[in-house]
Amino acid sequence: EKIAVLYGGTSAEREVSLNSGRAVANGLTASGYEVVLFDTKDNKLTALLDMNIDKVFIALHGRGGEDGCLQGALEYLGIPYTGSGVLGSALSMDKIRSKQIWQALDLPTASFAIVEKQAFTPEDASVILASLGGQVMVKPANEGSSIGMAKAASAQELVAALTAAFAFDEQILVEEWIDGPEYTVSVLGDKALPAISMETPREFYDYEAKYQSTTTIYNCPCGLPAAEEAELGELALKAFNATGAKGWGRVDLMRNSLGEWQLLEVNTVPGMTETSLVPKAAKVYGLDFNQLVDAIVQLAGK
Ligand code: DAL
Ligand code: MG
Repeated sequence: EKIAVLYGGTSAEREVSLNSGRAVANGLTASGYEVVLFDTKDNKLTALLDMNIDKVFIALHGRGGEDGCLQGALEYLGIPYTGSGVLGSALSMDKIRSKQIWQALDLPTASFAIVEKQAFTPEDASVILASLGGQVMVKPANEGSSIGMAKAASAQELVAALTAAFAFDEQILVEEWIDGPEYTVSVLGDKALPAISMETPREFYDYEAKYQSTTTIYNCPCGLPAAEEAELGELALKAFNATGAKGWGRVDLMRNSLGEWQLLEVNTVPGMTETSLVPKAAKVYGLDFNQLVDAIVQLAGK
């Protein structure tokens, strides 16, 4: 089969995607596929039509690649692609809509406020902060890799964090601060893979902790008792299905100091370098990187 690996692109996560795309292409080649690397920044998508492509592997993170736009274009072109469809991609990309859906289904997610760039005035900051317990995490609604995120514990810090976040999005999620470690559950088909817990000496698991730091610790197996890990897997699958995600992905959560799970977000195109989280979980599950990318391709269009 001939696979085009779509990577690069123009989102704020371009650099991450370049690394994911190269790793995926190597893995697919090792698994016996004919592979074309296709940077959507330099190529028109319609060029795929002349390449006799059987399937597309989407290795684009963030806007344009992970948010349903590309998925819609590929539907029109009639080319099968990996992962979630239009609706699942769009809803999972949007952290605010994801949380609204989980709330409606009684799935656990921390309290939050929505701040609109157009309507916000600095005087609003202290009211928002007080309503969320005095410490918050500020997140652009549609970004990835912690880009544009900051912690705020005073009205002044909140104004600064929002001002920075407005550079990335019109809608900002202000979430109650969760004082617990972050966990992530990878999903392959209808299965939850072994959970990973992350420990960082930094304030939170930010861009540097994710991609640059040598001090981040990844635990997989994560050390939870088997029954609790099974419950966590069930919760992650419910959250994944709730936003309409499909095929593969990764559900991020935190565990607060009371031991309660709090859903953060679903990533429909999680990082895919050899040292990324989904490959780590797959390895513990029993699939090496080449087998993992093969499995993701097999699930495409199903
Ligand atoms: N958004 C990054 C790529 C991730 O979730 O892994
Ligand atoms: Mg994300």
